[in-house]
Amino acid sequence: MNTVLLYCFVFALLSFILLGKQTRNKPRAKLPPGSMGWPYLGETLQLYSQNPNVFFGTRQQRYGEIFKTHILGSPGVMLCSPEAIRFVLVTRAHLFKPTYPKSKEKLSGPSALFFHQDDYHTQMRRLVQESLSLDAIKNLVPDIEAIAISTLDSWSGGQIFTFDVAALFIFGRSNTHYKEQLKKNYFTLDKGYNCFPINLPGSSYNKSVLARRRLSLILGEIIKERKENKLVEKDLLGSLLKFKDEQGQTLTHNQILDNIIGVLFAAQDTTATLLTWILKYMHDYSELLEAIQVEQRAIFAANEGGNQSLSWAQTRNMPPTSRAVKESLRMASIISFTFREAVEDVEYKGYLIRKGWKVLPLFRNIHHNPDFFNEPHNFNPSRFELGIRPNAFVPFGNGVHTCPGNEVAKTEILIFIYHLVNKFRWEAAASDGGIHYDPFPVPHQGLPAKFWKEYSGSQGALYDKIAN
Ligand code: HEM
Repeated sequence: MNTVLLYCFVFALLSFILLGKQTRNKPRAKLPPGSMGWPYLGETLQLYSQNPNVFFGTRQQRYGEIFKTHILGSPGVMLCSPEAIRFVLVTRAHLFKPTYPKSKEKLSGPSALFFHQDDYHTQMRRLVQESLSLDAIKNLVPDIEAIAISTLDSWSGGQIFTFDVAALFIFGRSNTHYKEQLKKNYFTLDKGYNCFPINLPGSSYNKSVLARRRLSLILGEIIKERKENKLVEKDLLGSLLKFKDEQGQTLTHNQILDNIIGVLFAAQDTTATLLTWILKYMHDYSELLEAIQVEQRAIFAANEGGNQSLSWAQTRNMPPTSRAVKESLRMASIISFTFREAVEDVEYKGYLIRKGWKVLPLFRNIHHNPDFFNEPHNFNPSRFELGIRPNAFVPFGNGVHTCPGNEVAKTEILIFIYHLVNKFRWEAAASDGGIHYDPFPVPHQGLPAKFWKEYSGSQGALYDKIAN
């Protein structure tokens, strides 16, 4: 018995010594450099009182590719190298869950796919990806073209154009009689999305909450009609209604609603902002406008002066215009960063990212880093003729949550530019070059511009001013 006790004692001692040695050899990861700011407030005031690029840029210069901070009530880590972002969004994506403020989650609806990270996310993502696939876009090119023409003819603006295109992918060609109500309530909802979330009568947030309720009712009517008429459509709503999981379970009414409103949110303002920037760059850089005009006018001529519709193949083959779209995505970096939360302690290059801390991959910092983009502050679409460093161009994110609507966004912009350049002239008001965050970066005062419809006739061009 004594011998057994002795063996146990020796074994325990050896284990203790070996384990202790291992622990001593493995230095504990340290927190990244950076400042946590003031007690309670952290660095929130600094972030909101200055241009976010300056806030992020100065810290990147001071601390490098990873630094800590404390904003919006949470400690967090910011990352600004392609490798670090790939680590969070792709290779270790399971360790970082998406996180959004509760007030935003409430407006979009908690079942919208981008709040999730599990099987539910995979299932919803498959449905959304199918409805936004290249085949779906190809089928809808004539409809997107019709929306571009009618938007330009009535000059109802980029916001309406991008809403109508998103609605086309969600509701297909049907349900047009509900469109105006959907649009009106969606824009009220959108207005309160980024304002201070006080739910008191009359506040923007409260108006948003009420608009969200009305949207639910309208969507309820649309779904009821589809079910009554036994309409089976290939659009996103059709896929959501048809879906059954492995246990034969269908989606709940709220899951369908949240995903529809979520896709509208993801699609509309982002693409409208991109459109604004492209118009601004086309206005500011005359050689860019010229290159786009040459390309688009040749396609217009091949289509017998616009008598034939734009073909799918033509939308896939607009190299100079496509490069301008990419360069606008880089320069403007509409989604400057995204939010994740570490689900456990994670180590990255000897730094500890603590469980529960927010993790912010900073896309804009990569897009504006001279190590990856020569003279990053110059608008230069030709940089996309050469290869771009892997993971350095991420306007649509990366990994499991990467934007499923990126081809829709690019195609609708190309179609819009084709009609704009061939049929209109415009003049943007002088700008002070400033940027306003709303929450996406937009030129100061938006982009006030005058548009003229151009009639080409034998006596030359005649202009008809249609909007300011
Ligand atoms: C210029 C326009 C657009 C930009 C810059 C953009 C950018 C992004 C980015 C960066 C993400 C990933 C966010 C993250 O990882 O946290 C994302 C996700 C998403 N986008 Fe886009 N987007 C655009 C247009 C669209 C359009 C037109 C649609 C739909 C028609 C769309 C639908 C979505 C959806 C549903 C997600 C969530 C995907 C998921 O969580 O799995 N986006 N977008």
